[in-house]
Amino acid sequence: MNKVLVSLLLTLGITGLAHAAGDATAGQSKAAVCGACHGPDGNSPAPNFPKLAGQGERYLLKQIHDIKNGDRTVVEMTGILDNLSEQDIADIAAYFSSQKMSVGAADPELVKRGEALFRGGKLEEGMPACTGCHSPNGAGIAAAGFPHLGGQHATYVAKQLTDFREGNRTNDGDAMIMRSIAAKLSNKDIAAISSYVQGLH
Ligand code: HEC
Ligand code: HEC
Repeated sequence: MNKVLVSLLLTLGITGLAHAAGDATAGQSKAAVCGACHGPDGNSPAPNFPKLAGQGERYLLKQIHDIKNGDRTVVEMTGILDNLSEQDIADIAAYFSSQKMSVGAADPELVKRGEALFRGGKLEEGMPACTGCHSPNGAGIAAAGFPHLGGQHATYVAKQLTDFREGNRTNDGDAMIMRSIAAKLSNKDIAAISSYVQGLH
C-alpha cells in the first residue's frame, strides 16, 4: 500500500516536473534576443554582461523571474522579458543551461589572495569559504540553485559582490546569505576573488 502511494507521488512529481521543464531546442531561437548582450550561446563577449552558458537552470529561472518582477534591477533588460510566457522562460533557461561556460584567465598577481579567500573564507570574521556552496571548481550546486561562478567575467562578479555589499542587490532573499558574506569583503578582496573566479574551472 505504502509502496503504491510512494510510486504514485513520485509519478505525480515527475509529471509535474516534466510539464514545467524547458525545451533547450525550442529555447535556442527564443534566446536570440538575449544573445545580443549575453552571446548567442550564452558566453557574452563583454565583461559587464554575465555569461549564462552552463549556468544552473534553477538559478537562471530564479534570476529571470526576479528581474521580470523587479526584485532585481537590470536597467539594460527593461521591457525585454515583458512578452515572454512561462514556457518561453523555461525554454530559454534550458537552452543556456545546456551550453558550456567558457573560462577566462586570472591575474597572476591576484591569484594567491583570491584562492585563499575562495577556499578558506575569513573564518575569524565568521565568513565561510565560497566552496561550500559554489563548489571547489566553481561549478555551483545546480539543484540547490547555487550559481556556477567558474569562468564568469571578473568585472561582472566584482559588480555583484559590491552590489550585495552596498545593498544594491537584495534578491538573495530573507537569509541574506550573499549580503552578509559580501559585508566582510574589502574592495581588494573583491578584486582578488573576482579575478580568481574568472580563471577557475
Ligand atoms: C541590452 C543587453 C541585455 C539583453 C538584450 C539581455 N540582458 Fe540579461 N543582463 C544584462 C546585464 C547588463 C545583466 C547584469 C546586470 C548586473 O550587473 O547586475 C544581465 C543579467 C541577466 C541575468 C542574471 C545572470 C546572473 O548570473 O545572475 C540573466 C539570467 C539574464 N540577464 C537573462 C537574460 C535573458 C533570458 C535575456 C533575453 C530574453 C536577456 N538577459 C537579455 C543585459 C542584457
Ligand atoms: C551558504 C551558501 C553560499 C556561500 C557560502 C557563498 N555563496 Fe555566493 N551565492 C549563494 C546563493 C544562494 C546565491 C544566489 C542568490 C540569488 O538568488 O540571487 C549566490 C550568488 C553569488 C554571486 C552572484 C552570481 C551571479 O551570477 O550573479 C556571486 C558572485 C557569489 N555568490 C560569490 C560568492 C563568493 C565569492 C563567496 C565566498 C566569499 C560566496 N559566494 C559564498 C550562496 C552562497
